[in-house]
Amino acid sequence: MWEVRVSPSGEFSNHPFESEYFTAVPLTSAIGAEITGVRLTDLSDAAFADFQRALWHHKMLYLRDQHLSHSEHEAFAARLGPFAVDAYTGGLPGHRDVHPIIKEADTRASAIFGGGWHTDSPFLAEPPSVTTLRSVEVPPYGGDTSWANCALAFRHLSKTYRDMLRPLRVHMSASNNFATQQKLLGKALSFADPERYEEGIKGHFHPLVRTHPETGEESLYVDETYAVGIEGMTTFEAKPIIDFLIHHITQHGFTCRLRWEAGMVAMWDNRSVLHLGPNDYDGYRREMYRTTTAGGVPA
Ligand code: SIN
Repeated sequence: MWEVRVSPSGEFSNHPFESEYFTAVPLTSAIGAEITGVRLTDLSDAAFADFQRALWHHKMLYLRDQHLSHSEHEAFAARLGPFAVDAYTGGLPGHRDVHPIIKEADTRASAIFGGGWHTDSPFLAEPPSVTTLRSVEVPPYGGDTSWANCALAFRHLSKTYRDMLRPLRVHMSASNNFATQQKLLGKALSFADPERYEEGIKGHFHPLVRTHPETGEESLYVDETYAVGIEGMTTFEAKPIIDFLIHHITQHGFTCRLRWEAGMVAMWDNRSVLHLGPNDYDGYRREMYRTTTAGGVPA
């Protein structure tokens, strides 16, 4: 007899990070927190160190009423580490590490950037660690971003399943995403940096269970946009495992969802979360800017 799948139960660890410099208010039991009491431009070194620890703990942070300029956004993101190469998008003139994500009110597209659950650019040998996203103009409704906690999801698997996954390596490639976009948009999608195309299609194999370099926490590293196989397995063998894991990670109990306001900044740790931004705001303009921070080789 099969068991009925119920919402996960047991340990949820998104308790508020304690800091003398700011207040963290958890968004859900699983992931995310609003940070109040600071401006990102004014963080002292000690406050910034605490802020980073809060990011590793909550995995996604957001702040209202920041209204950063491109320079302020770039300067804050530079404190997180060297910038990553962003395969898809080119930066702004004068701010090459600030990447626009803009959909105009009259744009009708059946697919947009980031519309499926994903971690950023895992098809690279060294995928980015942190992504920051800043809102300038947002729709009155729609255009929310959601995140899922892949470390919490890993802990909610049985020991037998966790032990089975640990030695596996997942094949991350942009090939399926390109094929889907081609089908939906009727035109080929490519990277802003054409030299990355071959690498993106070929992709890389990474640990399916990766260990966070700062916290030692284990986390699932698999998504619905880029995970195309598992090393040493046929597609028939790998697909049910990948499908199950995506279904497991993205269930309601492991997620949070942000309704954007103009002037916000959100950021997340791609090493332990998935995210998506649905294409559900035709008729309204959405103007966002993002940065990505270099990450090492996943281990
Ligand atoms: C992204 O995938 O980085 C973009 C998400 C969004 O625009 O909400």
